[in-house]
Amino acid sequence: MSKLKLDLKCINNFVKDSEIKALAPVAKTAFHTLMEKTGAGNDFLGWIDFASKYTEAEINDIVNTANDLASKAKVLVVIGIGGSYLGAKAVISALKPYYKKDGELEVIFVGNSLSSTYIKETLDYLEDKDFCINVISKSGTTTEPAIAFRLFKELLIKKYGKNYASRIVATTDKARGALRQEANEAGYKTFIVPDDIGGRYSFLTPVGLLPIAASGIDIKALLKGINLAYNDLTKDDSLNNQAVLYATARNVLYRKGKVIEALVTYEPKVKYLSEWWKQLYGESEGKDGKGLYPASVVYSTDLHSIGQFFQEGTRTMFETIVNIVNPDANVIVNHDDANLDGLNYLEGRDVNYVKDMATLGTKLAHVSGGVPNIVISIDKLDEENFGYLLYFFMISCGISGYILGINPFNQPGVEAYKKNMFALLGKPGYEELAKELAKQLD
Ligand code: PA5
Repeated sequence: MSKLKLDLKCINNFVKDSEIKALAPVAKTAFHTLMEKTGAGNDFLGWIDFASKYTEAEINDIVNTANDLASKAKVLVVIGIGGSYLGAKAVISALKPYYKKDGELEVIFVGNSLSSTYIKETLDYLEDKDFCINVISKSGTTTEPAIAFRLFKELLIKKYGKNYASRIVATTDKARGALRQEANEAGYKTFIVPDDIGGRYSFLTPVGLLPIAASGIDIKALLKGINLAYNDLTKDDSLNNQAVLYATARNVLYRKGKVIEALVTYEPKVKYLSEWWKQLYGESEGKDGKGLYPASVVYSTDLHSIGQFFQEGTRTMFETIVNIVNPDANVIVNHDDANLDGLNYLEGRDVNYVKDMATLGTKLAHVSGGVPNIVISIDKLDEENFGYLLYFFMISCGISGYILGINPFNQPGVEAYKKNMFALLGKPGYEELAKELAKQLD
């Protein structure tokens, strides 16, 4: 049975049923293109059945390595950018409590920005703490994580001398690249980034699973959720398949001028799901001058900032609410004799009920204001539900990309900034581009 409910009632004012049905044959073809691996980017579809193929030994290797890291360290420094960290960050943020328990391994992420302040403050933070590194890079040469790895490894060597290598786990290509070469030479424990899985589809490989397991999350339950979704969403090419339906609905909205999709959550822990989702959809679909712009908001916070724009600004967006039906914890609003804040009318109500009414009220207001709402509900934030949700988004993204007529599995546009940065930094091999840029800057 599906672990997710997709509700399209609140797009009815904007999209006729006949419009969804009219796009269904295109969605059906897109579904088959994905499943039969006949489309552009078909050499990057290893993620579709990856979770169903794990052996017990492979899972145990991840769990045992995670336990080993946790036994040696207070902090695990996860180095990676884009698809090499966002999945793990999304899962850990959503499934771990807000505040870490005493004695639990702290998982921190570096190498995803060029903030010298963050790097320096993190190095200082680690100075008197036992730590290990999980460096994740398929190429091994991505500038941001490569700089971080050099700096954090330096501290590791300073603290642990020649034993430093036993504190590094490298997740990288099976044979090629700078990190593979270094790992082989230095004897780091390694995990493989499969050749046929791009970064943004890789959270279900050791790229995501090792840091997730190290944080104490049950990866077997996460994989169970992913495999349930795999069984539910990869067999049926009709609109009864929720992944097909979501892909179809968002494309109908796009064709009607709703070119911005904002992922909405009322649970701040889910913020990094949105960051992961933005990479997934933005990097997959934003090409050839096409694509829905993936935005995100955390309500109520953003209702008091960007909420004005959602209610009355340019009418080019729709919202996709990720609704968590049952919270991990709840609190009651109690009676107060003075009632100066006027809240006694809520006496005995719980905060999650207030959140539910805020959700309903906002949905009604935004729909009246011209913003269609898709609602995706899961029962609660646990491993099975969350694994299911992430996989649902990945399958839908592949289908949606093929409906758009683009290759959802490459990211040629990411290279443009890198080339300019290399030329400006004086990297050997970029001399000609450096000259061209110098002219532009004159
Ligand atoms: O989705 C992608 O492919 C990218 O976001 C990459 O994961 C990111 O650029 C990091 O690349 P690498 O793993 O080679 O360091």
